[in-house]
Amino acid sequence: MRLERKTAVVTGGARGIGRAIAEGYAREGARVCIADIDEDAARQAARDTGGGAFGLHLDVTRMDSINRLVGEVEARAGGIDILVNNAAIFDMAPIEEITEKSYDRVFAVNVKGLLFTLQAVARAMIARGKGGKIINMASQAGRRGEGLVAVYCASKAAVISLTQSAGLGLIKHKINVNGIAPGVVDTPMWDEVDALFARYEGRPPGEKKRLVGEGVPYGRMGKPEDHVGCAVFLAAPESDYVVAQTFNVDGGQWMS
Ligand SMILES: NC(=O)c1ccc[n+]([C@@H]2O[C@H](COP(=O)([O-])OP(=O)(O)OC[C@H]3O[C@@H](n4cnc5c(N)ncnc54)[C@H](O)[C@@H]3O)[C@@H](O)[C@H]2O)c1
Repeated sequence: MRLERKTAVVTGGARGIGRAIAEGYAREGARVCIADIDEDAARQAARDTGGGAFGLHLDVTRMDSINRLVGEVEARAGGIDILVNNAAIFDMAPIEEITEKSYDRVFAVNVKGLLFTLQAVARAMIARGKGGKIINMASQAGRRGEGLVAVYCASKAAVISLTQSAGLGLIKHKINVNGIAPGVVDTPMWDEVDALFARYEGRPPGEKKRLVGEGVPYGRMGKPEDHVGCAVFLAAPESDYVVAQTFNVDGGQWMS
């Protein structure tokens, strides 16, 4: 029970990796707020998680939504100790076909949404004076470019950079900001990725997913649960001296 008496907010926690982390935090004793643009799914995930978990609506692209969420969690739980900045979307296209709309959508959620959720929660943590832990969900896509995935890759490189800057800027308030960079993980997001690769590379559905899984040194795609151990470590006192880092949790895909 390493997170007993802690309150954690997991953005995009209604499914996939965020949901697994929310469940893992609850098992460690934390009270978890599952905050997602899909409010019904967030509430259902909270009911399934138990341990006092609650689901709230959050659209990370809207400042009013972020501020309302922080106020609601403070009112219900007395403060926020842990934020997992996990909500993100994916898109891909060849460089010559990238649209302004796609760029704006991906950066609004993955970069602007992540930064201003981090800022709002950090302000609340500073005002409370008890420090905190912020974990940003990056990606191996942020470590290098990909010909068909330029915008998402750039958005995740920005997450790694923001993790470094916020980590350095907030540690004087005893707020640790670190990141996790997953590799390829079998979630609903990867079903969307597979469908897009099928379109742009002319593959049968499911083939890309099978091939990327075979390419992982560990021998399979990641599962959402594979990220829970690192997320618990980064939320617990054991990581107090870990600042501004992004950890690869990817079965050996990337070394840095
Ligand atoms: N699946 C992978 O292979 C993989 C690999 C590397 C990194 N990641 C990252 O891990 C994180 C989780 O990925 P996943 O595969 O579980 O994704 P997912 O698509 O399965 O889940 C994302 C969740 O975010 C929510 N969301 C989307 N837009 C939102 C918004 N504007 N405000 C609030 N919530 C919103 C969705 O409703 C959904 O519940 C993401 O940051 C993703 O970029 C995933």
